[in-house]
Amino acid sequence: MANTDPLPIVPIDAAESEAVWPLSIEAGWNQNLADWRFMLGAGRGFGLRNADGTWEASSLVLPLGQKLAWISMVLVTKGRRRGGVGTGLLKRCIAEVQDGGAVAGLDATEQGRPIYLPLGFRDLYTIKRWHFDNAQDVASSVVVRPFTMADLPRLALYDRPLSGMERPTLLAHLAMRRPDLAWVVDAPGGRLAGFTLGREGRMASSIGPVVADNEEIGLALLGKAASSVAGPFIIDVPETHARVRQYLEAQGAVSPRGYMRMTLGTSKGLDDPGHVFALAGPELG
Ligand SMILES: CC(C)(COP(=O)(O)OP(=O)(O)OC[C@H]1O[C@@H](n2cnc3c(N)ncnc32)[C@H](O)[C@@H]1OP(=O)(O)O)[C@@H](O)C(=O)NCCC(=O)NCCS
Repeated sequence: MANTDPLPIVPIDAAESEAVWPLSIEAGWNQNLADWRFMLGAGRGFGLRNADGTWEASSLVLPLGQKLAWISMVLVTKGRRRGGVGTGLLKRCIAEVQDGGAVAGLDATEQGRPIYLPLGFRDLYTIKRWHFDNAQDVASSVVVRPFTMADLPRLALYDRPLSGMERPTLLAHLAMRRPDLAWVVDAPGGRLAGFTLGREGRMASSIGPVVADNEEIGLALLGKAASSVAGPFIIDVPETHARVRQYLEAQGAVSPRGYMRMTLGTSKGLDDPGHVFALAGPELG
């Protein structure tokens, strides 16, 4: 029987990470405790909590600079669905973003999109989620080298115009969390030509973001990351990148689902996946 006792929307503190994690496990998602701790620490969570301290629903706003914020982790336990909880949480998140003068972005699942459309979100582009176990490196003349902490300031500067996101905290977090998935390509004159980062997850390691000057460099970075450590892997790739798709298919990757990148308002650069070969993840931007 569906549980319909009314519960108020309350903030989710980072200390609640372990208590709220079962929501994403129930949905079959890949986030681990480190993900929840990062997201609730760097962002603001809102949810529904029972008197016994268990959580019925969650949602999250992750600032990506002054002008953009990512809404994610909109999760309602199965017994509570179709009662308006998801819509209520989303409205709370939208108010939080708009009060701060920012534009809201998100990557919608098939289940989430019907809620976002009536609230004014519009489609930007489609993304495919790929699963694969192991990968061969890409045959390429592109020189890929390991990331070092000295690269971090340049990384954030390089990323910003190409991804449309200002996310130095997230990039630093990922680089420190999984240095073995962090690789860069140098361009002449001391600038970067691309980078990839990643993180471990509950079921698979996640590769991304992959941001690069062009598809050849993006592919070389992806191949290096995926062939350097053991899988299984997941990666979220904008559908427009046909060569990345061909490479993934050649590695035996399968894509059971996808996402729609959506926005409420306009945010410069967010609608162009030309240099974004993999997302940080639908929950991170
Ligand atoms: C998506 C989710 C958060 C929706 O939560 P919810 O509390 O059921 O949402 P609401 O009750 O506010 O639904 C609002 C409207 O969205 C539409 N909707 C919601 N779920 C739907 C579904 N499975 N199929 C079609 N329409 C759906 C309906 O129009 C619904 O209104 P109605 O029930 O009056 O017809 C919930 O299904 C969930 O946790 N899913 C798994 C995780 C997920 O995919 N999250 C979204 C990430 S982008």
